[in-house]
Amino acid sequence: MSFEAMPTAARNALRFRFRGGDIALSQFSPRATVLDWLREEMGAKGTKEGCAEGDCGACTVVLARLKGGRLTHEPFNACILLLGQLDGAELITIEDLSSDGELHPLQEAMVEAHASQCGFCTPGIVMSLFAGYHSGAPATYAGLCDQLAGNLCRCTGYRPIIAAALESCAGDPADHFAATSEKRAAALASLDDRRDMFVGDEAAFFAAPASVDSLAALYARFPDATLVGGATDVGLWITKQLRDLKRVIWLGRVSGLDGVGESAEGALSLGATLTLEDAAPLLGAIHPDLSELMRRFGSKQVRASGTVGGNIANGSPIGDLAPALIALGGKVVLRKGDKTRALPLEDFFIAYGKQDRGPGEFVLAVEAPRLAAHQRYRAFKVSKRFDEDISAVMLAIRVDLDGRRILGARIACGGMAATPKRAAQAEKALIGASLDAPSSWRAAREAIGEDFTPLTDMRATAAYRMTVAANLLEKALIEISGAGAPTRIGMLHAAE
Ligand SMILES: Cc1cc2nc3c(=O)[nH]c(=O)nc-3n(C[C@H](O)[C@H](O)[C@H](O)COP(=O)(O)OP(=O)(O)OC[C@H]3O[C@@H](n4cnc5c(N)ncnc54)[C@H](O)[C@@H]3O)c2cc1C
Ligand code: FES
Ligand code: FES
Repeated sequence: MSFEAMPTAARNALRFRFRGGDIALSQFSPRATVLDWLREEMGAKGTKEGCAEGDCGACTVVLARLKGGRLTHEPFNACILLLGQLDGAELITIEDLSSDGELHPLQEAMVEAHASQCGFCTPGIVMSLFAGYHSGAPATYAGLCDQLAGNLCRCTGYRPIIAAALESCAGDPADHFAATSEKRAAALASLDDRRDMFVGDEAAFFAAPASVDSLAALYARFPDATLVGGATDVGLWITKQLRDLKRVIWLGRVSGLDGVGESAEGALSLGATLTLEDAAPLLGAIHPDLSELMRRFGSKQVRASGTVGGNIANGSPIGDLAPALIALGGKVVLRKGDKTRALPLEDFFIAYGKQDRGPGEFVLAVEAPRLAAHQRYRAFKVSKRFDEDISAVMLAIRVDLDGRRILGARIACGGMAATPKRAAQAEKALIGASLDAPSSWRAAREAIGEDFTPLTDMRATAAYRMTVAANLLEKALIEISGAGAPTRIGMLHAAE
């Protein structure tokens, strides 16, 4: 069926690679997950279900895709990955790793190191390591800890797992996937037809437009449809809230929507579907705190799937990118039909669950200004757990300096209000303060109490949040002043 809202004739089947062949599905539920398809339709029970919310990694699978002509292997949580998101990819599961009766080198090393006990977590751990094995990154202790941040093992512990990984991930990959990489890349290239995909009918469909114009037209026609970037939020609406999503528009095939460029004002422009993993080095080039923030954003699996646009569009008061980019002076660019508008990021968040986004309007890009020579920046995330945890409090600050005097400040917090919000009173109180006179910062520390009335919830009490926000502000100023004692364990910033 071709669809008049889509300018080009749509393809009416989902197509991906699995177990060495092409799969084409012309019927599937728009809310079907990859995990359910594997276990229930394919009887592939090696991929486990633990939490069903992207936290434990038991369901980790690897998707191989062509990115900029290069074959990439990234880990995904199959429990919250929609089946339709497989379009154009090669799905690799734990059953695929052994070859000719021989275990994969990673599996062999796990056995040798006694790195599996109950074994429930083991397939997911091996798949995360498999993605690392093919990433081209050198196998280091720190790198492997990041690689496994989204994989929970309660019984064996990580020491033998990391020992196995250090042994097997050193050097270039030498498995049957590496041996057939050219053939596999060619098979993926042949799936890339650049046509819109539409499976279902008007009442219930999974659509994957191939261009921004197709997306704009389809969303204008079905403004009640659920847009999906990486589904790291939407997936949980299905698995935890049991929402029966009928109309789903996945943005992952929209050509150019993951583009990186410069805005007219010279800011870094990140396309809405750029993944958090791909955005991380670009943001890290603006300031090292953004690198650290992105390393602690979910896990490898969450960052491989989650998008910049999804993190802003969801309007979460505890999303990490919003405060970080508001402090930089970031903007969100929206499109509806053929009209585009840009607004300061802080103005996008109106109230809890309410964003300045009309029916049929979508996030096109997010802009992150780079720092000028007279500007200093810090961003801190405080959460209960270091890895894969949502912020209890997040504070980001940019100060504009005239020598050692503060001319202006942008301070933004997450977890302190119903939306990501600027600390207007604290910003005002910092104007004219001197980096050499900590007593001149006191008013700002106190003013932050006027800016916010945080809630007590399972992550933190209101009093804790208040104290932490004030302390983070002071910590940032101590670091920026360059005069204080070290403020961080293990990563001391040189004075700027
Ligand atoms: C285990 C786990 C850990 C997490 N850790 C963190 C964390 O550390 N920090 C953090 O901030 N978040 C975290 N998250 C939340 C989530 O990963 C992020 O918010 C992510 O950026 C969402 O992006 P997505 O593309 O997956 O969004 P989706 O789930 O696809 O969509 C989210 C919302 O945005 C809408 N949407 C998506 N793209 C667009 C668009 N272009 N235009 C308009 N609307 C759009 C969707 O309709 C939906 O309402 C975590 C989630 C999980 C499951
Ligand atoms: S089952 Fe826990 S992350 Fe998917
Ligand atoms: S071996 Fe991982 S949870 Fe038991």
